[in-house]
Amino acid sequence: MFRIKGVTALLSMTALTAPAFADDVEVMHWWTSGGEAAAIAVLQEDLAERGTGWTDMAIAGGGGDAAMTALRARVVAGNPPTAAQMLGMSVREWAEEGFLGNLNDVAEAEGWNDVIPPAVQAFGTYEGEWVAAPVNIHRPHWVWGNAEIFAEIGMEMPTNWDEFFAAADAMQAAGYIPVAQGGQAWQEATIWEAVVLSISPDLYESALINADMDALGSAEMAESFEIYRRILSYADDGYAGRDWNLTTAMVINGEAGMQIMGDWAKGEVIAAGLTPGEEILCAVVPGTDGSFLFNTDFFAMFDVGDDAAAAQRNMAAAAMSVSFQETFNLAKGSIPARTDVPSDNFDACGQTSMADIVEATESETLFGSLAHGHGQPASVQAAYIDVVTQFANSDMSAEDAVEALVASVGSAL
Ligand code: GAL
Repeated sequence: MFRIKGVTALLSMTALTAPAFADDVEVMHWWTSGGEAAAIAVLQEDLAERGTGWTDMAIAGGGGDAAMTALRARVVAGNPPTAAQMLGMSVREWAEEGFLGNLNDVAEAEGWNDVIPPAVQAFGTYEGEWVAAPVNIHRPHWVWGNAEIFAEIGMEMPTNWDEFFAAADAMQAAGYIPVAQGGQAWQEATIWEAVVLSISPDLYESALINADMDALGSAEMAESFEIYRRILSYADDGYAGRDWNLTTAMVINGEAGMQIMGDWAKGEVIAAGLTPGEEILCAVVPGTDGSFLFNTDFFAMFDVGDDAAAAQRNMAAAAMSVSFQETFNLAKGSIPARTDVPSDNFDACGQTSMADIVEATESETLFGSLAHGHGQPASVQAAYIDVVTQFANSDMSAEDAVEALVASVGSAL
């Protein structure tokens, strides 16, 4: 279905046109789970229709840590891919280092400035120039629940922590794993940052976005670790090292009642042939309605010379078309990065996100996700996540975690 290198070479030889592979893009990304792969296939197909071939450079590992290491190695070796998936802060960092191509002409032709929310534009532009195409807006603070298990315990999806823990206890009593959890640093940070937001949007903003030392050392921050410790107590023994999509599968197949995870989990639900909001229920993490954490996946184009420029522009234009943004985000679980995509075809969870982001923008409770590269530069982000993962994998007290957080973030700033 997609053009592969050999076929491209053959066509170029026959037609005696441009150098072989010039109209291909080599794309580095970390979308390897069922839902993620289904979503990226949409982009491959769209590009194939525009005559641009695709050389796939998938690096497995949710959250993209492994992909970012591989990307760095390629760039250091002087051999960057033509395009790479990246999260907000890293777009800025690569642009600062001068590696990214300028996408202003595509952005202008397609009117990006008029349809992309300013919060997303802030990460896709560098010194006023577009350097990366935003394909989606993910919301990382959701609870996914197995509807049959909720029906069996006779409860609704939780709207506050008391209800969450009551449901978890009932699920445990009924013989289920109450809260399926994955054991990687970014997954642990995804849950913890949602808990911080649930305490208050102010705490999230001051401690995680502004790295305010008083907020980081506060009693409220200790409370976030207490709640997180309690959530962890509902994990099963197989938690260490578990991938996020295998964790989602536990909720899908009825082994576990709930998972706290971003809406990429919805992509797994859809890939399993189920309907989000029906067999698998969604609710924002207790206490976080009215606020919106976001992370956007960007495709940045590396400056690899003129030969690749046309294919790169094609890819940027494809990734930003209204029809692509609809089809892609329906499969990915996210909402479009463009505000002019109709919401009609999105499920209940997606429509909630589309409405909530407007509300959160107005009430100034829209923040970048720290766990997903939209809160702090990579080195400072690591200082937070190190402490969270240390806490999750030891019996560290909440007070000690707060002390460690202040020290760790303080020395990284
Ligand atoms: C996020 C990314 C999502 C999703 C997830 C798990 O950082 O933005 O697109 O794929 O990681 O891999």
